Amino acid sequence: FRRRLAGWFRRAGRDLPWRRTRDPYRILVSELMLQQTQVSRVVEFYERFLETFPTLGHVALAPRRKVMESWEGLGYYARAGNLHALSREVHATRGGMLPAAADELRELPGIGAYTAGAVSSFAFERRAALVDTNVARVIARVFAPRLKPRRPRDFKRLWALAASLLPRTGKAAWTHNQALMELGALICTARVKRCADCPVRATCLSRE
Ligand code: ADE
Repeated sequence: FRRRLAGWFRRAGRDLPWRRTRDPYRILVSELMLQQTQVSRVVEFYERFLETFPTLGHVALAPRRKVMESWEGLGYYARAGNLHALSREVHATRGGMLPAAADELRELPGIGAYTAGAVSSFAFERRAALVDTNVARVIARVFAPRLKPRRPRDFKRLWALAASLLPRTGKAAWTHNQALMELGALICTARVKRCADCPVRATCLSRE
């Protein structure tokens, strides 16, 4: 499963701006924007936001109103408010450096389990699991079709499954996690299963 998934991602994965950086702040901004917003829309806003606020320090020292204004058009403005609160805290207490460990990231304002795992894996290349609704759907379909991602107890079990699937190194986990997200976005979507094009159909319990 891991080998086929990673091989497919190297061939077919999209070249997205936040896959070219390991800057923790830039990864965090991308993950906050990608919650609730389509990739194509985020791509439009991401670079512009980062031109206005190139570092976490720039967000921390800006008035909240300015950060909210720069979020204009993306919706779900609570995310911008959270980014501002988080930046102030990290600027004041950690010299502007985001922590690398998922459990420490989790303690920051507005950071849930998924975002903590995503920043730890995608920015710091730590061996961290991450499960959002897309990853949950993919893992459930492939390995545990009886689990319902919307049931909290099952969602917890999918986190445990995701952790058990991680490759050994943090670097390989980066590719693996990006590939799981990509499979959920391009092949194993909520609306359609493109099983004929799926790189892991041989090991999938839900293949059609
Ligand atoms: N959605 C959330 N994180 C993502 C990522 N790294 N790539 C594509 N879509 C995402």
